[in-house]
Amino acid sequence: STTRYYNFDIRRQNVTRLCHTRSIPTVNGQFPGPKIVVREGDRVIVKVTNNILNNVTLHWHGVRQLQSGWSDGPAYVTQCPIQTGQSYAYNFTIVGQRGTLFWHAHISWMRYSLYGPIIILPKIGLPYPFPKPYKEVPIIFGEWFNVDPEAVIAQALRTGGSPNVSDAYIINGLPGPLYNCSSNGNITKQSAPSDTFKLKVKPGKTYLLRMINAALNDELFFSIANHTLTIVDVDGVYVKPFNSNVILITPGQTTNVLLRTKPTAPNAFFLMAARPYATGLGTFDNTTTSAILEYRPKPSKYYNITFPLFKPTLPVLNDTVFAANFSSNLRSLANRQYPANVPQNVDKRFFFTVGLGTSPCPHNRTCQGPNGTKFAATVNNISWALPDTAILQAHFYGRSNGIYATDFPVQPPFPFNYTGTPPNNTLVSNGTKVVVVPFNTSVELVMQDTSVLGAESHPLHLHGFNFFVVGQGFGNYDTVNDPARFNLVDPVERNTVGVPDGGWVAIRFFADNPGVWLMHCHLDVHTSWGLRMAWVVNDGPLPNQKLPPPPSDLPEC
Ligand code: C2O
Repeated sequence: STTRYYNFDIRRQNVTRLCHTRSIPTVNGQFPGPKIVVREGDRVIVKVTNNILNNVTLHWHGVRQLQSGWSDGPAYVTQCPIQTGQSYAYNFTIVGQRGTLFWHAHISWMRYSLYGPIIILPKIGLPYPFPKPYKEVPIIFGEWFNVDPEAVIAQALRTGGSPNVSDAYIINGLPGPLYNCSSNGNITKQSAPSDTFKLKVKPGKTYLLRMINAALNDELFFSIANHTLTIVDVDGVYVKPFNSNVILITPGQTTNVLLRTKPTAPNAFFLMAARPYATGLGTFDNTTTSAILEYRPKPSKYYNITFPLFKPTLPVLNDTVFAANFSSNLRSLANRQYPANVPQNVDKRFFFTVGLGTSPCPHNRTCQGPNGTKFAATVNNISWALPDTAILQAHFYGRSNGIYATDFPVQPPFPFNYTGTPPNNTLVSNGTKVVVVPFNTSVELVMQDTSVLGAESHPLHLHGFNFFVVGQGFGNYDTVNDPARFNLVDPVERNTVGVPDGGWVAIRFFADNPGVWLMHCHLDVHTSWGLRMAWVVNDGPLPNQKLPPPPSDLPEC
């Protein structure tokens, strides 16, 4: 193993999409950002220098950060932000992970322009447990705003209403032919090449698509017309391969798929497309982003080919049946070489509701949330309040007073029928509350979606761990019958799971990583409304079970 050094210079760059030019934060002037390519076992040192006026932090999403919690990145959780003119070197080792993850800004909504792939190759000499791909290609989904997204969320938080949605979904930074601002949706010679990502392939080959959903607020369906995809890896963990024409990927999830190109298809091209799987409040739109799969030799013209002809079939909006089947097809390899270390016994059980609620409107103001209130979102009815200093530092120095409290409820304070009529009182409490667990606790957590202000699925992401998804279902979680059906043999292991619309998921993990670990909905609007909490894992007795002291360049608040 080696050490890989990267310099990330955060600076503004003019970028034009949908005929709008905006100066957006970038890493080294690139949008989307540069990719990090490492091997399992490598140390990674990324020196981040902030040359913009906003505070910034970066998060290495899905990287376990074993004993390197100071490099995890969520602002005011593991670190104070990197201020203008300052630098911070994130320093971590990739242990026991291989596949695709990604990095992104972890402060406010700056992920909209600061994100890029993390590609973890297997150790030298260790093959993939699937046919060797001819080529590997990252496919990263995002969202483009014609206005400043920071202003969009700031305004929504001020007024208590729902933020405006983005103007386009993008694939590798490009919106695709449907969004071309100077055409009406037809692919023309003029519009297709610009603003459209093209994947150029040869017939009869296998390609590994490393798919990443970095979008702010939407789970996405993705499909390629007339092609089948083989899912081989999610969130940096191999899975038992299975075929599907469509994949579902939530913000925060990564999915590696094999694409076998047709034996002969010269002069052909096919559309690949993604559109939101969205439920609930209508804070989504039903737009579609697309890109082109182009067989070499290249087609001679783009004329006379219109979008509907080559459109892949995507499930309809709100297709929860597809979503549930897709997730239940995901299984760990669970073999000798890649065992699934599923906790068989549980030390601590938790039941968390995740969902929306309301906060009172401040006096002398009119609010645009439900019935003149402000929108909020909670875990167990607690809406997370960001502290103004980093929790990890407070934890390390034993100074939690006035920064965070440890009385996070292990059960919802007001149980109700989560899939029936919601309660009249939707008021939430605010606070910075954490759950404290001893080192190596075997944790079981059931997360239940509530129907307050509409049922909605929530992609819950846990920092610092992978977890096993041992069960999922619709309706209210049944403490008697549901655990009997848990899969404790080959459940999928991942870092982000969709808590289904009107349903629940059960996860298990060993709390074997000392530090402070944020858990939150990866829809940024819900994060902003407070759908987050944190786990504090105490040090274990052995030296390699302790959180080391902070690095000397850790930013101060
Ligand atoms: Cu990808 Cu806390 O985030």
